[in-house]
Amino acid sequence: IKGQGQFPPDFLFGASTSAYQYEGAYDLDGRGPSVMDLLQRKGGLADYKVGADHYHRYEEDIRLMAEIGLKAYRFSISWTRILPEGNGRVNPEGLQFYDKIINLLRQYNIEPIVTLYHFDYPQGLIDQYGGWRSRKSVDDFLEYATILFRHFGDRIKYWLTINEQDHVIHLPERIGLPGTIDAAEFDRISQQCSYHMCVATARIIERCHELVPGGQVGVAMNPMIGLPASSKPEDVLAAAEYNEIAGYYLLDLQCKGIFSPIYTKYLKDRGAFPEIDAEDLNKMRLHPPDFIGVNYYMNQTVRQSTSDTIAPRGTGVIKREEEGIYELVNNPHVQASEWGWGICPIGLKLVIMELYNRYGLPALITENGLGARDELLPDDRIEDDYRIAYLAGHLKELRDCVQMGYPVLGYCLWSFMDVVSGHDGMNKRYGLVYLNRKDQELLDLRRIRKDSFHWYGHVIATNGADL
Ligand code: BG6
Repeated sequence: IKGQGQFPPDFLFGASTSAYQYEGAYDLDGRGPSVMDLLQRKGGLADYKVGADHYHRYEEDIRLMAEIGLKAYRFSISWTRILPEGNGRVNPEGLQFYDKIINLLRQYNIEPIVTLYHFDYPQGLIDQYGGWRSRKSVDDFLEYATILFRHFGDRIKYWLTINEQDHVIHLPERIGLPGTIDAAEFDRISQQCSYHMCVATARIIERCHELVPGGQVGVAMNPMIGLPASSKPEDVLAAAEYNEIAGYYLLDLQCKGIFSPIYTKYLKDRGAFPEIDAEDLNKMRLHPPDFIGVNYYMNQTVRQSTSDTIAPRGTGVIKREEEGIYELVNNPHVQASEWGWGICPIGLKLVIMELYNRYGLPALITENGLGARDELLPDDRIEDDYRIAYLAGHLKELRDCVQMGYPVLGYCLWSFMDVVSGHDGMNKRYGLVYLNRKDQELLDLRRIRKDSFHWYGHVIATNGADL
């Protein structure tokens, strides 16, 4: 079913970034270390210390956002700029930096959308008590969020708690564990961490509603929708099971306060069901998110697993096989990016429909974009027609959803500017604005408008009528 026309006039056309990938200034003005800084020091591909130097160039960057006509800008606050040790002492310079950003955005009528925690967990909390493993992490995340609600709540309406909890819990270094950890032990610990994150999120939602008049809180997940590899009932079932255990289980917990039957069985089979408390589940039921943030980049294609053993899930975001349940396979109908990410705009529509059917909540697209090796041409042009095609394809599906009546607050593509890619440094760029730097050579960090920059400006100006 197709829709017609444009996006509604109040639709939030926006763009996203995250603090650790964009700001740089990793140890300036009192900022404390995060797990991402330490990962970098262990020999990451590209230098995060300077990122895109947004910390010093935010005025120029926000002027570019205004030039393109952004209605919204999603960024994350660096927890350790505010609380260098993760808890306790507040760093006033951290608050001042975000005051400047938020005030300037407001001056240009750009709606700020704030993520509280985008991968850069305070190293201080790992050192103090093991971070998310401990129940203390719940209080500290709530304390941090409360500081932000009190300080910025008069100017920020839309908040996101954790970026991609569904991914971060599978990446040991990002939750303070060694990459070499035993798979079964990792399953047990990471599920306990994940549970604590859900408990903290429910309490933060409750707190936001108490402190911020009209405040709305979302969770940002990354559902990589699974399509069945064939019409064989076993493959259709495998795709459905994949979608439950790799995708929606966390939202069932966060939005309804339940562990779904299939996920309960899955965790118990692996000895990884966390320690829970009925009061916590009740809090989740009472304080569900106001909207669901969707980071959507790719789909997966799924067939039945040929094995019948039960194995621990272990580390890594993408699990090629869950023994006894599913295997991921290539899909001849879906093109992939150079990094093997299956490009499937229809998947975005499937996600929006499914989320609304299951939870009845509005969606906000918090990330969507194409990573590519852009080439800077001699006349300072970047002809990224491949990115325009990707974004237009997804926006068309989204427009259909909106026109059919699915509630979608806005679309924040990833990313406003090239930032340091989480897995591939500066080799993989997503921005509308080219950043003139390499992995280790910082060059002049010049900002250069790509073709997609001009294209997105037109999309916003025409409210998506001309995709
Ligand atoms: C999302 C993250 O998962 O994907 C971003 O929220 C990240 O932080 C983006 O940059 C793209 O991933 P990558 O590894 O290609 O940079």
